[in-house]
Parts: sequence; C-alpha cells; structure tokens
Amino acid sequence: MSATTSIHGMWSTRLAFILAAAGSAIGLGNVWRFPYTAGEYGGGAFVLVYLLCVAAIGIPIMMAEILIGRRGRQSPINTMRTLAEREGKPAAWSLLGWMGILSGFLILSFYSVIAGWTLAYVVRAAGGAFTGIDAAASKAMFDGFVGNPEALFAWHTVFMVLTVMVVARGVASGLEQSVKWMMPALFVLLLVMVVYAGWAGDLGAAARYLFAPDFARLQDKAGEAILSAMGQAFFSLSLGMGAIMVYGSYLRHDASIARSTVMIAATDTLVALLAGLAIFPMVFAHGLEPGSGPGLIFVTLPIAFGEIPGGSLFGALFFVLLVFAAWTSSISILEPVVAWLVENRGFSRVRAAIIGGTGAWLLGIACLLSLNLWSGYTVAGKGILDLFDYLTANILLPLGGILIAIFAGWVLPRAATLDELGGTDSAGYRLWRFLIRYVAPAAVALVLLNGVGLFKVIGLA
Ligand code: PFF
Repeated sequence: MSATTSIHGMWSTRLAFILAAAGSAIGLGNVWRFPYTAGEYGGGAFVLVYLLCVAAIGIPIMMAEILIGRRGRQSPINTMRTLAEREGKPAAWSLLGWMGILSGFLILSFYSVIAGWTLAYVVRAAGGAFTGIDAAASKAMFDGFVGNPEALFAWHTVFMVLTVMVVARGVASGLEQSVKWMMPALFVLLLVMVVYAGWAGDLGAAARYLFAPDFARLQDKAGEAILSAMGQAFFSLSLGMGAIMVYGSYLRHDASIARSTVMIAATDTLVALLAGLAIFPMVFAHGLEPGSGPGLIFVTLPIAFGEIPGGSLFGALFFVLLVFAAWTSSISILEPVVAWLVENRGFSRVRAAIIGGTGAWLLGIACLLSLNLWSGYTVAGKGILDLFDYLTANILLPLGGILIAIFAGWVLPRAATLDELGGTDSAGYRLWRFLIRYVAPAAVALVLLNGVGLFKVIGLA
C-alpha cells in the first residue's frame, strides 16, 4: 500500500526519531517564548489553558501529522497530494503543504534572529560580562544589543549557516548523533538553574504565579490569551506546518506513534515548565516585570549567572545548550521545503538547503531591522518580527492544525489510520479518533475565531 522507505533516508531506530522530534519540539519556544508569553498573560490561567491545549489538541494532532507523513513518505506537499488522490479527494489538499512552507519561512526568519541572540550571549557569558550585573545593567546591555543591527545581522547569519550546514548533510548523520547528549545536558542544566533560582530567588512566588490560575488577570484579554496559549502549544510542539510530518515520513512502520508522541509532548512540556521555574523566581526577586516581553530571559538569566560562583562558565554552557536546542529545531523548520526541492526540482540536498536557507535569511534581515532602524514601521502595533511570530503561532499553525485534523479524521479511511496506529481497535484508538474528528477541529476553530475577535465583529460576544 504505502512505500516502506523515503528517498531522503530513514531514522535508524525509533529512539532516533523520538530524539529528533523532541529536538524539533524543544527549542526557543520552551525557554524563550513560553516564559515571556506566560508573563504577558499573567501566568497561571495561561499555563492551565496551555496544558489543556497540549493534551487535548496537541497530542492528537501530533499523532495525525506523524501518521500522515509515514503514510505518504514524501515532503508534506507531495504527501498530501498523493494521499488525497489515493482517496479520490482533490489534489488541492497539497495547499496545506504550501501553507506549511510559508509558515516555515516566516518562523525560520525570526527564529534565526533570536537564536543569534543566544549565540551572542554565549560569548558575553564566557567573557564575564554578567559578573555582578544588576537588573538595570542587564536590561541596558540587552537593549544596547538589540539596538545594534550589525551585531544582530552577524549572529543571525552565523546561525543560518549552521542550520543550512546540517540540513545539507542529511539529518541522520549529523543531528541524530548530537541530540543524544545535548538534550539530556540541557535538561540537567535547567534543573541546576531551577535549584539555584529557588535558593537565590523567590520560588514560592514563581510557583504561585505559574500554577495558581487566576482567570481575573486575563480580564478582557481572555480570548486573546487563550489563542496565545493554543498558539504556544502549536509552536512548542512544532505542529501545523509539516515539520513533524516530514520527520514522520522517515519513521519505520513498526514504531509506535502513540507512545512516541506522548514521550515527545511530555518532555517538551516539562522543559517549558522548568524554564518557567528557572526564570520567574529571579524575575520576582529582582522586581522585574513578568510581562516585559521577548527580552525576559535575556535580562533575567544574566543576573542569576552574574551571582553564581562559576557563573561565567555556567552561563556560557547554558546559552550553548540553548543554541543547540534552537539548532535541532531550526533544521526541522527547513526540512519540509528542502525535501520538496529535492523531489520536485531534482536539486541536490546541498543546493536545496542553501536556497531554502537563503530565503529565510533574507526575510530574517527584515525581522532584525524591525528591532532598531525600522522600529517605526508597524502593523496593528507590531513590528515585522512580532508580526511574523504572531501570524505563524496564533493563526497559520492553528489553521494548518485544523486541516491536518480534518484530513486524518475525515479524509483518510478509518482502516488507514487504524493501521498506522497499531492495528487494534482499542479504547485508545477510539479516543484519538474522537478527538481528531470532533474536539480538535472544533476547539481550534472556536479559539481562533474568538481570539481574532470575529465573534465580537459579528455581535456574538
Ligand atoms: N518547536 C520549536 C520550539 O519550541 O522552539 C519551534 C518550531 C519548530 C516551530 C518547528 C515549528 C516547527 F515546525
């Protein structure tokens, strides 16, 4: 029925797939984006909605993406077309793949800029720039850096080159090896940071902030907050744009999709919560503002590292690991378009990776300029970088998610999804099918329409 292998290669084991997919999921979204977004929406209520979204929407959609990818065994564009045609459905389903490519370019462009910040911070930490720094000085250092387009440009370029290099080589040989120890190392270092933050900062206040939901804090921003929590779930789990789909296309048929998914989603969530617990104690102990935006970790962590004995070393190590986490994510953002260029244009992998990377790099220049020289240009109060971030996480990825759910729940025959999910018509399978057919598409659509204010416009809210 389906091809048993992909022309692009295969993961050597199920563990390799889990590591690669977890590498894709765990990245700046967990350590940078989750804490500052939770901070912008007041903490606990946001976190609770986020966890619900991961469980009820994220996990079923991740399973759907992996199984679609594995059944198609090609780039998302070609996979969608092949599978749709096989069921006698319109080839226009491939548009879902195209939408994913667009999301991928937009995400990679700003992702690389932020990953560039982490690279710059490795150098600062190692050079002792954090030693004895206070909140005001840390903020001044960050503002000075972000206001400097040449520096941002240089680091953005370095990171994009790193990404292209790995994708050009093929995922299995390069990354499969390195994620094996980088991910556990990041995890251990985050734990060290949580312990430190608990000792030097205000862990109680942080835990209350993150885990005691106070819906009153959302007030009239509830719709927007819920949309952002859902968008954060899509972004953090790498869903809705074909990254996990293309990784699924390299997965052997005998590997369990459900078990892999639960492991990937659980570690991703744990890392996000640990990042929150490492950062908020310092925020509260130093009187910083939780809702201060994208600079949050770049302002708080240096203060912590500046106080810790050996902080220059720990700080450098932490930011190195964050670079690696970002790196294992950025390659997965580039992979769908590269697979498509190889399949449809007959390009070599190297050429495809360079072309894809250059496109995202050019867009990234606009993102980094929006932080300084072009800061006057805004749409709906957002500069280019913020706009790309908002558009992808909160609109394009959820839209992609709805379509993936509809495709897996309504277009693919029951027998096909059952076959991919282990072949036994268990309670677990039926739960998945219920979630993917009804709950996920309806919930995502409601949150999306409500969050963008459509119900208000037509007078329903
Ligand atoms: N999940 C990544 C993170 O949390 O940093 C970001 C990401 C990777 C988003 C891949 C989307 C994607 F397709």
